[in-house]
Amino acid sequence: MTNPATRWQELNQELLAASDAYYGSAEPILSDAAYDEKLRELQALEADHPGLRSETSATSRVAFARTTDFAPVEHRQRMLSLDNVFNPEELAGWLARIPAESYLCELKIDGLAVNLRYVDGRLEVAATRGDGRVGEDITANVATIAGIPHRLQGRDVPTLLEVRGEVFFPTQAFTELNEALEVAGQNRFANPRNAAAGSLRQKDPRVTASRPLRMIAHGIGAVEGKEFPSQSAAYEALAVWGLPVSEATRVVHSPEEVLAYVTHHGDHRHDASHEIDGVVIKVDARSEQLRLGATSRAPRWAIAYKYPPEEVHTRLLDIRIGGGRTGRCTPFGMMEPVLVAGSTVAMATLHNAHEVVRKGVRVGDVVVLRKAGDVIPEILAPVVSLRDGTERDFVMATHCPSCGTKLVQQRLGDKDLRCPNARSCPSQLRERLFALAARGAFDIEALGAVGARDLLESGLLIDEGGLFTLTADDLVRTSVYSSRSGGVNATGWKLLENLEAVKQQPLWRVLVALSIRNVGPTAARALASRFGSIERIREASVEELADTEGVGAVIAQSLKDWFEVDWHVAIVESWAAAGVTMADELPEAPDTDEPAGSADDMQTLAGLTVVVTGSLEGFTRDGAKEAILARGGKAAGSVSRRTNFVVVGENAGSKAAKAEELGLPILDEAGFVRLLELGPAGLSGGDGGAPVAP
Ligand code: IVH
Repeated sequence: MTNPATRWQELNQELLAASDAYYGSAEPILSDAAYDEKLRELQALEADHPGLRSETSATSRVAFARTTDFAPVEHRQRMLSLDNVFNPEELAGWLARIPAESYLCELKIDGLAVNLRYVDGRLEVAATRGDGRVGEDITANVATIAGIPHRLQGRDVPTLLEVRGEVFFPTQAFTELNEALEVAGQNRFANPRNAAAGSLRQKDPRVTASRPLRMIAHGIGAVEGKEFPSQSAAYEALAVWGLPVSEATRVVHSPEEVLAYVTHHGDHRHDASHEIDGVVIKVDARSEQLRLGATSRAPRWAIAYKYPPEEVHTRLLDIRIGGGRTGRCTPFGMMEPVLVAGSTVAMATLHNAHEVVRKGVRVGDVVVLRKAGDVIPEILAPVVSLRDGTERDFVMATHCPSCGTKLVQQRLGDKDLRCPNARSCPSQLRERLFALAARGAFDIEALGAVGARDLLESGLLIDEGGLFTLTADDLVRTSVYSSRSGGVNATGWKLLENLEAVKQQPLWRVLVALSIRNVGPTAARALASRFGSIERIREASVEELADTEGVGAVIAQSLKDWFEVDWHVAIVESWAAAGVTMADELPEAPDTDEPAGSADDMQTLAGLTVVVTGSLEGFTRDGAKEAILARGGKAAGSVSRRTNFVVVGENAGSKAAKAEELGLPILDEAGFVRLLELGPAGLSGGDGGAPVAP
């Protein structure tokens, strides 16, 4: 057990350093969640060992200001922080301890606290919070923020008024700022809060003026010449004087209503124009606030309910390369596992080597990791100030990590590197085998990723051609499909049964299963219904193929190229010889279990709006659109609250960010295929509807 005094020292030092960084610079060194956790530990330690309490404790100070060039400003009344609760039980405890007739519920804006001092209605000085007593003069910069009046409106203005508020960077504008910074070759900001901090701390107010910062008032400090009966009345007065106040603020009268507010905004976390990290509950009556008073850190009449963090810090242990079905080699980050937005994350794709450079991350960095709701985890940026010199630059592989073949660029300017050894690269083979068993292809229940690997590693398959001639004697040689007694296990028998049954699958599924570049379910259905057999597809000219509804020139050429390769044709021949359907009866017989007819009779997306952004492997832009339309859906070009699903492919830009911001369901390509196949109900299965790391 660590000695309590040593632990106290450790925690206190860490918290003070973090607090310095938080208030003094644009880049925090501890995530908010880690800070809160450590502060709680320090508080508990001091509660158990009161002798440890001292004036220098992080529990008794708001924070320490850092010396900068910005002149010091003493606040007329101290700027306090807030105590936190993290779950409904803790909230109920606080409400029971602090009973009130009316509570004011507000959003907790994730920005930077400022104090605006108005004297006789004129903005005299604006300052950061600093240590709570003394902040820094940022008047010139704050004066450029739209919505902050330089003069209060109306006659009834107090002689002195300190307005407290939060300056923030609207989330939509944040995405655009980062895009612009990138184009200009400058560093991106990890999140809107950092962007707000960076924008406020500019020496040149013209730079601040060019950033679309906003402020919302959330309190008052010293006031002379006016009294407010309640916090809500103060907000009403602020609004009349022309100050921005939040529209989401509500006065409620019971603990149940407080909890309902907390739950509602937790469910609609991304609806506001700014990021929120919780809600704040305040006793509304000023007389009660004065009676309750404050500790050295925070008022007793207010509490912050913190939502689970969507951004955390973790260490990037390694950057590895994952190989896809088409040979694309993708770097992905391996991290110390962390809990973020309700799930543990240890991997996140970094897309390609350019992306690693763009993000500026090095192996060994502490990185900011974000996962908002169901969104794909993303490494946002390194925490540069935590580097100790042991970090190393990522070097992109030149050879395939799976088979050692030299990686190539498919086309000039292509950001992706691919392994050209399509036939026998173990990782491509494994991915292809896994993909052909997917629900949108052959739908072989007993063949998953582990089974695919096993069939290859045990030497039973050298490519997918031999799949349908596997026998019970073969499966005995695997580990997944064999029993301890030396026979075939239940999964093995199931696999043999599945393989027999899926030979009757319609032609379009066979086409999808062949992993022909750009041929997804839509193109496959269109080809199957127009040509009826694999032979006719093979014989068709590029023009005939391209002329097919939902196919187009790119897919047509892909098909032609694919059939040129001997071993591809050999796979088709092996499957055909094993009895796999290579032709549909024309017109197709209705199939009640799997409506495999033309796409038009499957209205899986009726009434739904889907936006596709970025590039998909199995669909062209038009192909994806066509697939949505064919199922009764609307393929929209821009993301809005009315969008039902957003499909995010490679190199997706601001639409993906907008979708995250609005909290819309985001799908990867596999999820999209399932959505097309089965409609929204197909996404609840939990086996990969949500995007996955490589
Ligand atoms: S009230 C005396 N209300 O959160 C009470 N603070 O973690 C002081 N914040 O320092 C703050 N939204 O900068 C209050 N609606 C809100 C807020 C809010 C964001 C910030 C504020 C405060 C910090 C505490």
